[in-house]
Amino acid sequence: MITDDRQDKFRLRPGGSLRGTLSVPGDKSISHRAVMLASIAGGTSYIRNWLAAGDTEATLGAMLDLGADIERHEDTALTIHGGELREASQPLNLMNAGTGIRLLAGIMVGQPFPSVLDGSVQLRRRPMERITAPLREMGADIIAANDACPLRIQPAQLHGIEYDMPIASGQVKSAVLLAGLFADSPTTVSQPGPARDHTERMLRSMGVNITEDDETGNCLTIHPNGALKPLNITVPGDFSSAAFLLVAGLLVPDSELTIRGVNLNPTRTGLLDVLGEMGSDITLSNVASQAGEPVGDIRVKTSALHGIEIGGETVVRMIDEFPILMVAATQAEGETVVREARELRVKETDRIAVMAAELRKLGAIIDEREDGFRIVGPQSLTGGQVDGHDDHRIAMSLTIAGMIAAEGAVVTDVACAADSFPGFAETLIASGAKLLPE
Ligand code: S3P
Repeated sequence: MITDDRQDKFRLRPGGSLRGTLSVPGDKSISHRAVMLASIAGGTSYIRNWLAAGDTEATLGAMLDLGADIERHEDTALTIHGGELREASQPLNLMNAGTGIRLLAGIMVGQPFPSVLDGSVQLRRRPMERITAPLREMGADIIAANDACPLRIQPAQLHGIEYDMPIASGQVKSAVLLAGLFADSPTTVSQPGPARDHTERMLRSMGVNITEDDETGNCLTIHPNGALKPLNITVPGDFSSAAFLLVAGLLVPDSELTIRGVNLNPTRTGLLDVLGEMGSDITLSNVASQAGEPVGDIRVKTSALHGIEIGGETVVRMIDEFPILMVAATQAEGETVVREARELRVKETDRIAVMAAELRKLGAIIDEREDGFRIVGPQSLTGGQVDGHDDHRIAMSLTIAGMIAAEGAVVTDVACAADSFPGFAETLIASGAKLLPE
């Protein structure tokens, strides 16, 4: 969502190179989960490097409305005294946060009081049937016109189910697992592919028994077993934010960037595998464990890329990185083809259609397909004015595209970058980008 003190337009000038050592704000997925789970844990949690961004602030606001006892030391350091939630006096406003509303729904269906979960016009357009269907199967009482938010939830006794997820989705898996905490019997979730696993990692670290029913790790059972232990974590840097800097470092001539402390959870780093196969010069170092997640430094140097075909499990492991991959594909030699990525059409925007339309304004030729796209490169981007459509990942991807456009570019509706990456423009400027916020 847009707040009034944010710049809403970037002007990009051609030229310059990107150099230096940077960091990115805390992981958005982990920050949502941390504030929700710490609020219902038994005891006091300490969360450092929490992401203070549009989406996660919406979740934090909702938890405060639910009576959570949250102390804020700096924007990014939280002390949360966990306990029972209580009925909010107003609908919970998750703004643009799809993760916020879908995960919180999993918790709210297990509460002994009613709640209403709502959000922005953009969020009201996003599909909720994917969570309401399994939650209702567990016994949840949810009323939602057209299966969109607002979601009106009444208290109900939940029962464990065996749920075969029709799509690989971290949000759906998490909503069911979280509801499983409040069920009177174990809940099993089978996913068709490896969707992000932050919820399982965090719940296990809080003492919850989650078993894997086979060696693929795609079938999980949660056994509800009482109060959650509190968290004491430093949230790792968000790989999905680092992805914009990574691709900028690859495409802008004569660049070399090191991004420190980035989450390298393999359910998130499909883009690293893809860029590696495309010929990029990327190296990882200082890999260690932090907050139950693998974390490390990523160094990237300007590289000549070639096209690639992407489909299947890789799609899920890089679902948020396709807008920026499209920019990389315009610069890669040969054909890049993406299949089985229909999910992109139900993100904050229809990311296939919106990216194709906006990149065309910069002179690109994009072949849009129902479940992906085909781009033949290298293409020279000329320049022009493009729009971020209140979708943070679109706005940031177009900013990077503008940096390599021969005549530069203007990107409007970019304030939404702060939904996940506050300081995006400042970070680029500090590393040498010719970016003027207006
Ligand atoms: C997220 C899961 C993904 C991703 C979103 C964050 C999460 O959505 O696109 O940005 O934190 O669980 P889906 O699970 O719907 O694919």
